[in-house]
Amino acid sequence: MTNHRIALIPGDGIGAEVLPPARRVLDVLGRRHGFGLTYTSYDWSCERYLRDGAMMPDDGLDLLRDKDAILLGAVGYPGVPDHVSLWGLLIPIRRAFRQYVNLRPIRVFDGVESPVRGARPEVVDFVVVRENVEGEYSEVGGRMNRGFADEMAVQEAVFTRAGVTRVLDHAFELATRRGGRLTSATKSNGIVHTMPFWDELVAERAARFPRVSWEQEHIDALAAKFVLAPGSFDVVVASNLFGDILSDLAAAVAGSIGIAPAANLNPERDFPSMFEPVHGSAPDIAGKGIANPLGAIWSAAMMLDHLGHPDAAEDITDAIAALLAGTAVRTRDLGGTATTAEFTEKLIELL
Ligand code: NAD
Ligand code: IPM
Ligand code: MN
Repeated sequence: MTNHRIALIPGDGIGAEVLPPARRVLDVLGRRHGFGLTYTSYDWSCERYLRDGAMMPDDGLDLLRDKDAILLGAVGYPGVPDHVSLWGLLIPIRRAFRQYVNLRPIRVFDGVESPVRGARPEVVDFVVVRENVEGEYSEVGGRMNRGFADEMAVQEAVFTRAGVTRVLDHAFELATRRGGRLTSATKSNGIVHTMPFWDELVAERAARFPRVSWEQEHIDALAAKFVLAPGSFDVVVASNLFGDILSDLAAAVAGSIGIAPAANLNPERDFPSMFEPVHGSAPDIAGKGIANPLGAIWSAAMMLDHLGHPDAAEDITDAIAALLAGTAVRTRDLGGTATTAEFTEKLIELL
């Protein structure tokens, strides 16, 4: 029997509440489809930071390196500055393991009310491909003259030919396998060095994918289009920051940020990939047992697909669709009163 070694990092807040449901679902699928999953849990979190002075141990990345995949809840909590917690755990994992593609699929499920008129299940089905290791997320820059009138902060963005090309190729290949359309998010009218470079590389790579029709949209106009015409997208490729913002926006258009999943992929498979919901630790609802676990569960489905079990992954997305279309059980973000546990129970019943 194939066995997969999975690292579990529940993290902070609702991260720790949505991972156990995902694990329960995974175990059901393993039994049904005849594969094993061996979990190692790590308590890396803001709580650990406050106790030990670090989000993860010095050899943290080495501990993860030999795993087949990483399933993460969410990181970051009031009491520890976000840039400290995220740059102490999430971002180093993405970078060290060259998870340069962040795939964020968007679907409006039947039975979920979108706040956007016309966002119907049959028309909204696209993927945001987010560059995940460079771009606007950079440590290059500095703070000067703290506390003085001439205080300033400088933050550089880093776009490399190799880094942009590889994520664009991934997006074009995905578009080839899907609906054959690609939208590139840009801001070359305002950001004069990095974004024209991005646009040039898009045009250059597009020549290799003649079956894909592509267009570029300024990020501001694109944000409006996500709301006004969410059915007009197939694959949307964007830089690290633009992709981050677009994916929360798209998740909201699809009805709740609590459903949206993400796959941080290392396409070469020389390191583990990491799967996590798009949402964060949600301190405002943490500890209440009311978080929507579907984002984490759908992320687990993406993990199974990556591990070579597309049928098992589809069982999960089918069960999510059945839960939303065929029952009235809903967590609060979806207008219901069900707890995380009740929602999970119903899903397991339908599996
Ligand atoms: P958030 O996603 O945690 O929360 C935004 C809003 O969405 C909140 O009102 C929250 O209650 C709601 N929400 C989020 N997930 C939900 C779910 N599953 N079910 C129901 N409601 C849900 O974003 P934020 O408030 O900007 O960030 C909180 C913390 O999480 C910060 O420390 C942030 O840095 C961190 N964060 C971490 C990750 C990650 O680890 N991948 C991602 C995003 C934010
Ligand atoms: C996400 C999150 C992270 C990001 C933050 C918490 C650093 O928002 O995974 O979308 O911006 O990548
Ligand atoms: Mn985000």
